[in-house]
This record gives sequence, C-alpha cells and structure tokens, in this order.
Amino acid sequence: MRIILAPMQGVIDYQMRELLTSVGGYDRCVTEFVRVTDHRVPEKVFFRYCPELETGGRTKSGIPVYLQLLGGDPKSMGLSARCAASLGAPGIDINFGCPAKTVNRHDGGSVLLKKPQRVFEIIHAVRENVSEQIPVSAKIRLGFEDDTLLSDIIGSAAEAGATELCIHARTRTQGYKAPAYWSAVGQVQQPAEMPITINGEIWTPSDVTKAMHQSNSEHIMLARGALSCPDLALQTKAWHRSENYTPMDWSHVVELVRDQFNSSTHFKGKYVGNRTKQWLSYLMRHYSEASSLFHRVKRCIQADEIMQHLNEQAL
Ligand SMILES: Cc1cc2nc3c(=O)[nH]c(=O)nc-3n(C[C@H](O)[C@H](O)[C@H](O)COP(=O)(O)O)c2cc1C
Repeated sequence: MRIILAPMQGVIDYQMRELLTSVGGYDRCVTEFVRVTDHRVPEKVFFRYCPELETGGRTKSGIPVYLQLLGGDPKSMGLSARCAASLGAPGIDINFGCPAKTVNRHDGGSVLLKKPQRVFEIIHAVRENVSEQIPVSAKIRLGFEDDTLLSDIIGSAAEAGATELCIHARTRTQGYKAPAYWSAVGQVQQPAEMPITINGEIWTPSDVTKAMHQSNSEHIMLARGALSCPDLALQTKAWHRSENYTPMDWSHVVELVRDQFNSSTHFKGKYVGNRTKQWLSYLMRHYSEASSLFHRVKRCIQADEIMQHLNEQAL
C-alpha cells in the first residue's frame, strides 16, 4: 500500500509537506497545482511551488514530490511538463479534479472530464514530452455532473500512457460534501497496468480499509484527514500491519503547530498566523484541545501573541 499526501492549494505547501513527511508514513507528495495557460510555465514558477526541486525533488525526509500541472492546452502542458522534469521533478501529476468555477471557465480542472478525449490528449502530450523514467499520474473525480463517463475517462487515461490514476470519489457537482462514493470506483473496470489510488473522506485507519475494499484500490491519498490527524499515515500503516501504535497526543501536535508557525513567518502583516489558524481549524476535527486554542488565537494579529498562546499550550 502506498500513501500519498494530497495536493491542497493554499494549504499543503512546501512547509506543510516538510512537516507532515517528517512525521512519517507518506510515500509521496504532490505540489499545489501550477496553472498552465497557453505557454510554457517559467522555471521560477516551478521553484516557487516546489522548492524541493533544489534538493532532488524530495522533502528533507527523502519523500518524492510530484509536480502538479493544471490546464487544458496539450501543447503547453507538454512543454511545461518537459521543463519541470528537466528541473528534477521526480514525477508529473495532472489535475482533472479542480471544481473552482474560475478554473473550469478557463478550461482547466474537472471541466475536462466532460470529454474523455481531452483527458487523453492532455495526458498523451505530457507523456510524450517526458522520458519514460518519469511517472505521469493523473488526478480525476468520478465525473463532472455524474459518473457515467468514469469508465471512458479511466480508459482514456490508460490509453494515453498514464502511469497511475488517483480518483477523488465524488463528482464535481458533489464538491467536497460527505460522503465519498468509493464503491463507484470498485464498480468499473480497472486497467491492470495503471494502479488506482483512492481519495476522498478518509479520516481514520478504518476508513482506509473501507475505501480500499469498496474501491478495489491498492493505494490511498489523504487530504483533509492528513491535516486533522498528522500521524494518520503512520496509524494506517501500523493498523494494516497489525502492529501496536500509540497515536500522537496533543502535546506532540502542539510542538508541530509551533514548528509550522515558526516556518511560516514569510506570511507578513495581517496574514501572520493565517496558516496556523487554518491548520488548527482542521485539527479541531480530531483534537478537542485544538478548538479552544483556535478560538484563542483566531483574532490575534501579532506574531508574539500567537506564539504566547502556543507556548502556553505546550507547558
Ligand atoms: C482547500 C483545498 C485545496 C485543494 N487543492 C487541490 C490542488 O491544488 N490539486 C488537487 O488535485 N486537488 C486539490 N484539492 C483536492 C484534494 O486533493 C482532495 O482530492 C480532496 O480534498 C478530497 O480528499 P479529502 O476528502 O480527503 O479531503 C484541494 C482540496 C481542498 C479542500
């Protein structure tokens, strides 16, 4: 079983990848999406989204980081993928899942699922532009409005040469609302040469078991679950190996939150602490203590004040 840390624009950035992979259990990360329009993305943009390119495309813990591209123009997607690979990206991931209206209006993300032929053309162009050693994965949803094209989309991805496919088990219309329909993935034919990773609404190790079983997938991707429970990947691996494992307690989590706050000082002025507040709002789902801490820091706009609250928690 492979556990992938999901891409999350504006949430799982370089610092968060560094932090969560240092906790452990992850086999791969994916960057936030890099928007590709009608020309090749400049190198500096790749370095901004993926500072790990400076260290062989891996986090400090040695976990590979695939670069995610989002766009509807096969030519510029192909050229951008080639550039990313030449800079050392260990893999390219293509975003066919983004539900944002502005992104969809500009021919990117989940709108492309309406036409499986377009999924084929984009993946094919990327595949043709990078060497065989570079994996090309795609991330899709069950479909745009419904899942009637799912089988065709999977077939198109396989035919275009995708190495792997990650399926967020909801349609674009279903957004991020629970539940996720893992069994919809299990009901379609899965090409043997293209492993499927299941994603969506996985919060606990027992969700992992259900999601893998119902979707008939070998691998999982964790998004909000990874943020609400920083050692979910470790818990999952221990559970699957029937090993004893003591889940991370709140005092350890507070240490991580302090590390995260200290590493996000590039957010200045009124933005100071925004990422920390955001993370606490995810942690609240799993740790009741996160809720009171969140309510204490939510209106703080001074770094010192926020740090003081974090330090008090750590005592
Ligand atoms: C705030 C936010 C940002 C996201 N950004 C991206 C992104 O950049 N690329 C992508 O492929 N998916 C993105 N996603 C989707 C997640 O990777 C994942 O597919 C989705 O959250 C479902 O998994 P979950 O139910 O475990 O959270 C984003 C989701 C959220 C909530």
